[in-house]
Amino acid sequence: MSNHFALLQNDTFLKALLREPTDYTPLWLMRQAGRYLPEYRATRKNAGSFMSLAKNPQFATEVTLQPIDRYALDAAILFSDILTVPDAMGLGLYFEEGEGPKFERPLKDEKDVMALKKPEAGSLQYVFDAVTEIRRALNGRVPLIGFSGSPWTLACYMVEGQGSREFHKVKTMMYQRPDLMHHILRTNADAVVEYLNAQIEAGAQAVMIFDSWGGALADAAYQEFSLSYMQDIVQRLHKEQDGRRVPSIVFTKGGGLWLEQIAQTGAEAVGLDWTMNLGQARRLVGDRVALQGNLDPAILFAKPDQIRHLVKETLDSYGTPNAGHGHVFNLGHGISQFTPPESVSVLVDMVHEYSRQQRQN
Ligand code: CP3
Repeated sequence: MSNHFALLQNDTFLKALLREPTDYTPLWLMRQAGRYLPEYRATRKNAGSFMSLAKNPQFATEVTLQPIDRYALDAAILFSDILTVPDAMGLGLYFEEGEGPKFERPLKDEKDVMALKKPEAGSLQYVFDAVTEIRRALNGRVPLIGFSGSPWTLACYMVEGQGSREFHKVKTMMYQRPDLMHHILRTNADAVVEYLNAQIEAGAQAVMIFDSWGGALADAAYQEFSLSYMQDIVQRLHKEQDGRRVPSIVFTKGGGLWLEQIAQTGAEAVGLDWTMNLGQARRLVGDRVALQGNLDPAILFAKPDQIRHLVKETLDSYGTPNAGHGHVFNLGHGISQFTPPESVSVLVDMVHEYSRQQRQN
């Protein structure tokens, strides 16, 4: 397959991931296309449900571009969900109004686990079609990020059957039957490698692995049940497409204590939540990886001056020499649906303005 896409006009984000110098610190926001935007809510209403929105490449393209049209963001992220993969494995993803994601057929016992198979060819084609259509519609304005969940984070939903606070079922299986848990994780890792590589072939210019629940694990369990599978995935990803490097980002929410180990997976960048100081993180990883993060999303509920002040502190915390070098600005987790859209303008403008200023000093 050969795609002819427009020349990339803003490669600041890709350069920062590869730790090349940039004129300013690039930024994008996790969950930047979503319910805090009135235009998203309108498209979502037209589509009917979240899944019919995500499964329709035209709708997915429309909502992916909404935040790009509104704000001077430096990257777009595919509009989809991490749970498309277990859905394609036959678990039956659905959303009930006002509730999180659920599975009709969660993995309850050994029989369910042993029957688990990678998604069949074609079952995720709607995602790859969306990637190509979004990349065309972007027309080179900014790069497109593809993504998947980590094997562990996917397993949390697949075994619990829904979101969880305690992870009672998935941790019971992990401790009682580590063999079954490893079977799930191995299947997920193979599925994720194929999924991300197909996104790269379809036009994704960087990829991110969301390990949203890695931080719920004990030390040692994290390395065995989450990190090792992410490392395996990163090493099997296509490193180049159409003559350009395709950087990868690994984000374990709550993973600050394991930062140095995450930095050794082979990923170009590590995502950080808001619990860590960026300068301290940078000292720990040295020049091995770029860092992405890490403003508390709740700061967007504060007043414009307070937002500007904390943006400045975050950019300053990254520190000198080479202020901003190897840093992609982001929130420490997804943007809240209650965020006032005007707050995002304040944030985006301040990141660009102040980070340009820093490079003058
Ligand atoms: O960042 C983006 O703009 C791209 C889109 C994206 C979505 N989900 C869209 C979405 C991405 C990258 C995800 C990843 C995702 N999905 C994660 C990992 C990141 C994280 O937040 O830790 C997880 C754990 C999921 C699972 C999931 N999907 C949950 C828990 C929910 C419910 C969230 C909620 O706030 O109710 C979803 C649904 C979902 N995925 C929505 C969006 C915009 C909201 C659905 C709606 O429109 O009603």
